[in-house]
Amino acid sequence: TFVVTENCIKCKYQDCVEVCPVDCFYEGPNFLVINPDECIDCALCEPECPANAIFSEDELPAGQEVFIEINADLSQKWPNITQIGEQPADREEWNGKPDKLKLLER
Ligand code: F3S
Repeated sequence: TFVVTENCIKCKYQDCVEVCPVDCFYEGPNFLVINPDECIDCALCEPECPANAIFSEDELPAGQEVFIEINADLSQKWPNITQIGEQPADREEWNGKPDKLKLLER
């Protein structure tokens, strides 16, 4: 299973959804998540993310383990997304900023 991690918050480029063969992305106000029960581990989304926010759950960077639960939880609550929509105008400014978890809108 692949996991969307912290750097997606407020970047939300959405290039990932365009390549997912099983449409397993779900959309919140400023973040996307992957449904772990639907992800087939194809790995296509990982290199597409301009924010490098997607990792295999086996290769999560230190401190990002909390996002396993966040993806599992929020993918049950948020609507499915299958096509790229409007990107945040200030996404480049937020790319790489630390400590964005507190900014996650649920
Ligand atoms: Fe987020 Fe990267 Fe997708 S920033 S919306 S995981 S392309």
